[in-house]
Amino acid sequence: AYTAKIGPSILSSDLSQLGRECERMMECGADYLHLDVMDGHFVPNITFGHPMVECLRKAVGPNPFFDMHMMVSRPEQWVKPMAAAGANQYTFHLEASTNPGNLIKEIRESGMKVGLAIKPGTTVEELAPWAGQIDMALVMTVEPGFGGQTFMEDMMPKVSWLRSQFPSLDIEVDGGVGPDTIHRCAEAGANMIVSGSAVVSSVDPRSVIALLKDVVLE
Ligand code: DX5
Ligand code: ZN
Repeated sequence: AYTAKIGPSILSSDLSQLGRECERMMECGADYLHLDVMDGHFVPNITFGHPMVECLRKAVGPNPFFDMHMMVSRPEQWVKPMAAAGANQYTFHLEASTNPGNLIKEIRESGMKVGLAIKPGTTVEELAPWAGQIDMALVMTVEPGFGGQTFMEDMMPKVSWLRSQFPSLDIEVDGGVGPDTIHRCAEAGANMIVSGSAVVSSVDPRSVIALLKDVVLE
């Protein structure tokens, strides 16, 4: 019903070379790019915003799919700028949204796909009412804010439950996912796999991406 896709998170890469890093990940077999936007308010860290995305789009050309992980307090604020900058999917946090239904509609009207993310402390029952209206659910497997954290295996029941209820929904996992933890994600039914440090810091990103994909496809 769904396909396995691997989306490196470039948060752990050399940010001074972001365009090159994005190209390198695509050359190594990435299916999409997971771009982490942090505002220093929703999470205790700052990364970049739509001006950077616009530059990256120019650098990498029209094809790579940009999944924007919006770790920001007012997600409705950046829908139009991100669409204009060349984003393909807008993944916002349920915890940050006062009116998810309206935001989903605005994202669609802007021409982007819709992702809905939940932090570890948010239950999957809270996400469920929106699951029929979104393209992708993101189950965070770390507290958002930083790369290189430890995978929270106790999030897997959320993924299994979502998979059982919504067989064709894209389900993404993000945080601490790599060769050591991918089996748990695949068993639970995740099909969009974000991997940051495990891919980007590897001496052989191509092999890591291929391995992750093999496990999900098994
Ligand atoms: C964390 C970010 C993740 C992170 C993943 O807040 O949303 O995308 O960069 O990095 P790893 O795979 O190193 O945990
Ligand atoms: Zn992320």
